[in-house]
Amino acid sequence: MKNTAVTFRQAKEKKEKLTMLTAYDYSTAKLIDNAGINGILVGDSLGMVCLGYEDTLSVTMEDMIHHTRAVSRGVKNTLVVADMPFMSYQASIYDAVVNAGRLIKEGRAHVVKLEGGIEVCDKIEAIVKASIPVMAHIGLTPQSVNAFGGFKVQGKDEEAAKNLIEAALAVEKAGAFAVVLECVPAKLAAIITEKLSIPTIGIGAGAECDGQILVYQDMLGMYSDFTPKFVKKYENLGEKMDIAFKKYIEEVRDGVFPAEEHSFKINDEVIEKLY
Ligand code: KIV
Repeated sequence: MKNTAVTFRQAKEKKEKLTMLTAYDYSTAKLIDNAGINGILVGDSLGMVCLGYEDTLSVTMEDMIHHTRAVSRGVKNTLVVADMPFMSYQASIYDAVVNAGRLIKEGRAHVVKLEGGIEVCDKIEAIVKASIPVMAHIGLTPQSVNAFGGFKVQGKDEEAAKNLIEAALAVEKAGAFAVVLECVPAKLAAIITEKLSIPTIGIGAGAECDGQILVYQDMLGMYSDFTPKFVKKYENLGEKMDIAFKKYIEEVRDGVFPAEEHSFKINDEVIEKLY
């Protein structure tokens, strides 16, 4: 069954948990789609896990379109969510609508995601009016890392917790079809999940959210710069890749690879004529 913004909302009504992972390229998207996931986020985490930046702030619209197109080519049934990069929507409603449109038209995403609460509601409303479904993202919003003073858990005291609840209600009212809750205490995320009629997708927000998302390099143990507490490593592919890369280097140096089965044949008569 095809996943859409509508089926995401229906999943909440049916109390079915939603599953999401990030992806940034065709082959990974194809594998994840084949596994039967509900949604793939082409996250601006691209900047960190693929492009090697220390945060997500340098990611451009061109980066996002390029990678979203690749992911879109790899999926059949998965909802493709494209992240709106830093400063592609903050400055004006015009920017927000035009750039959301580019992610759909040029990137072939199905929906877009943007970070922020009450302060971005006018942008969410305008994008939704342009018939582009919006996934909101509150809590730890990495594009605000400089304002937060680091990657920190959000909503821990009473005022901050109340503000997060307000933000969640506001993005729902503005028309978002789902909301990511990042690095939010589990009990607060549970309250928000109960108060909203749209699904909450948690990352570091406990088990009561309507769905979960992880960065795929984190859950496969492929990104060693930093592993957040909320990550469960389902595999350690980083270690397996290291072993494979070293074996390849050794075999090439020792003349073991390529073997006969990896080589192409030519008629001996042709070869004789070459001497
Ligand atoms: O960019 C990203 O990967 C994200 C997830 C962490 C939700 O926004």
